[in-house]
Amino acid sequence: MTALRSLLHDAALALISARCSDDLDEGRLEAELLYGEVSGLSRASVIARGGEEASGETVTQFEGLLGRRLSHEPLAYILGRRECYGMTFEVEPGVLIPRPDTETLIEVTLTAVRAHPGARRLVRVADVGTGSGLVGLAVAKHAVATKVYSLDSSTTALAAAGRNRKRFGLESRVVLLAGYLLESLPERVDVVTANLPYVPTAVIETLAAEVREWEPAGALDGGADGLDVIRALVGQLAEHLVDGPRAVLLEVGVGQASEVAELMEAVVGGTARVHLDLGGVERVVEVRRGF
Ligand SMILES: C[S@@+](CC[C@H](N)C(=O)[O-])C[C@H]1O[C@@H](n2cnc3c(N)ncnc32)[C@H](O)[C@@H]1O
Repeated sequence: MTALRSLLHDAALALISARCSDDLDEGRLEAELLYGEVSGLSRASVIARGGEEASGETVTQFEGLLGRRLSHEPLAYILGRRECYGMTFEVEPGVLIPRPDTETLIEVTLTAVRAHPGARRLVRVADVGTGSGLVGLAVAKHAVATKVYSLDSSTTALAAAGRNRKRFGLESRVVLLAGYLLESLPERVDVVTANLPYVPTAVIETLAAEVREWEPAGALDGGADGLDVIRALVGQLAEHLVDGPRAVLLEVGVGQASEVAELMEAVVGGTARVHLDLGGVERVVEVRRGF
């Protein structure tokens, strides 16, 4: 028999020495979430029961999940979910895990949608490279006068986006489409928002094992300078955006904003604005025309 508190403390130390967690706080958090998963307890209850004995099947199951985490499988894949923008998204290997950085893209997309002259009637939005469905579903949930097309070339991603769409009850306003960037759109849209792959190929091998070995390369790899997929998207915009008031919002990596701004201004018109994420990084490039 082991006290739950000491089981979790030892697990946190193991996570730190395997370089899965950066510090004791993070290690404890991960251990508590894993124990909560096998015991069916909330994290608060796991902490509150720290003085109790942990034994039997629950400990065996916990050690099984801890072993997966110690081999650098991301916590979100072990739990099968990740919270972002106050919503819980189902994820699995093959689907990019939602990142806090992308909350900036969601925020600025919602601001543009609400400011659009069509906001009282209907704004058509395309979320390109939807992955788990994160951006399109958050926009549809928080701006009801929208019709959202969520597009991806990965059928694994679209299947997860479909489960998340159902989870949030958004089947009537979010359409899932398979295809290359915007090619499968059935009509022109007012707003294009996208978090596409933008990591330069050479940088991928420097990323943490959790990302490099587990997350889909097709969601990360943006080619030699990271901008191959974004350039291809910009090349499709004229054909898929309305001629009237329109906006494009793209998430970018460190140091990419000014080049992407120039590309977008040349196609959409207007003057680009760059939005910082919570860490102060230039994260989203926005161009509006006609409003
Ligand atoms: C960085 S992930 C972003 C996922 C999600 N939007 C998010 O923010 O969590 C990029 C997504 O773009 C998709 N993708 C990559 N290239 C694509 C292409 N040419 N056409 C459509 N989707 C693409 C990938 O499958 C992946 O789901």
